[in-house]
Amino acid sequence: MAPQPSRWAIPLGVSFGVPVGLYIAFLFLGGFPFFQRQSVFFFLSYSYPPTTVSSQPVSFFYAHRLNTLFLHDLDKPQYWGFARNQVTPFSLISGNESIYAWHILPLRSVLKHEDELQATPLGHSDNITTTESFKILRDDPEAQLNAGHIAQGLRTEHFHTLTDTSSFHVLSIDYRGYGKSTGVPSEAGLIQDGVTAVGWAMNVAGVPPDRIVVLGHSLGTAVTNGVVEHFATRGIEFAGVILVAGFPNVPTLLSSYSGAGFIPVLSPLRPIPPLLRLFQSFVVDKWNSSSRVAEIVRLTRTRLHLTLIHANNDMEIPCHESDALFKSAVKVATNQVLDDEAFLSWKKQKSIQFDDGTFTSIVTAEPDIIIRQELVPYGGHNGVLLTSAVPLAVMRAFSSDPDTLK
Ligand SMILES: *[C@@H]1O[C@H](CO)[C@@H](O)[C@H](O)[C@H]1NC(C)=O
Ligand SMILES: *[C@@H]1O[C@H](CO)[C@@H](O)[C@H](O)[C@H]1NC(C)=O
Ligand SMILES: *[C@@H]1O[C@H](CO)[C@@H](O)[C@H](O)[C@H]1NC(C)=O
Repeated sequence: MAPQPSRWAIPLGVSFGVPVGLYIAFLFLGGFPFFQRQSVFFFLSYSYPPTTVSSQPVSFFYAHRLNTLFLHDLDKPQYWGFARNQVTPFSLISGNESIYAWHILPLRSVLKHEDELQATPLGHSDNITTTESFKILRDDPEAQLNAGHIAQGLRTEHFHTLTDTSSFHVLSIDYRGYGKSTGVPSEAGLIQDGVTAVGWAMNVAGVPPDRIVVLGHSLGTAVTNGVVEHFATRGIEFAGVILVAGFPNVPTLLSSYSGAGFIPVLSPLRPIPPLLRLFQSFVVDKWNSSSRVAEIVRLTRTRLHLTLIHANNDMEIPCHESDALFKSAVKVATNQVLDDEAFLSWKKQKSIQFDDGTFTSIVTAEPDIIIRQELVPYGGHNGVLLTSAVPLAVMRAFSSDPDTLK
């Protein structure tokens, strides 16, 4: 029988042709706002094991249609190992959208109110203010709230690490267009949703801002900056702001970002700066976090405890992206006019260098400003949320003991 070499030609042609063709589709369709806000093409880069997929990557568009939770009902949080009624799913109204939210009780409160919680029906609450968990939050003089965002993959484990042994309540939302929330994502819309969630915590649940830490991961860091800036312009300051795996703005990020850790987005254009700049200029939602974080520092009247955490082995958003955020914040806090090189050597003096190549940099300024950047050795883009650096940052923000604030 004759050999059939052509059998092998076809798969090879496909495997080379598809990534190249897709890359081009990314660039051109990415120029239109509609496609930047859809995730049609991103699916294709997600043939990666779904459990390790990042839930809300930043790219030309929001990967909001990518929902690794579609097999499980978010209204049944026990699936993720939460105690009965430890989590109350409910909805908030943000503009014209219905925003899906979780309120997660700390286990200490679950233990204290076990009987009432056992007796409460399970599921989505149509009127959160009538629930047992809401009463626990409202009546808890010690309640401390983390506003994050729900969602997928490691986030539910992250909520466990935050609530297992602490007294922290967690409020988490799915932005518009994600999960069970309505609408389509946009920069202004996501910030509005974050503002709605934090506003609910302060005005409905009655938790004062000095007992609220706002925490964002990945795209959530950009939303966090927008939300904190919104409140800063109104003279409202929080116990802490934590940005995990952040980035200075989307156009810059796209020149180094890899979707799912291995699909280059704009980096192949780096050798051709005019073309790179052209494509960068098409990005609609720029998420200019470096300018927002500078503004937050500028508006600080009494307190800003800002922590930036990044994993050294982050394959999606490289850790140097956090350096840019740190620099923007610190420049305003200390009135720096140093050039890049001088800034780096100045920063070294403010840093503790560890033998594995990681570091912690701490800059303090008047009135009560602490800007802290931590590079942790492991965790990658998503697992960094489960490192102890994150709950430690929350504890530090809530601590009134100045010895722990270093
Ligand atoms: C809400 O919907 C109404 C009616 O469709 C529209 O006129 C209004 O502009 C929308 N508001 C926002 C904030 O999107
Ligand atoms: C929710 O319940 C509270 C307390 O019973 C009541 O005051 C409020 O009007 C209710 N809200 C809605 C939207 O039904
Ligand atoms: C971010 O804002 C700063 C200050 O307003 C500006 O100089 C910079 O060009 C902006 N970056 C992007 C990518 O829009």
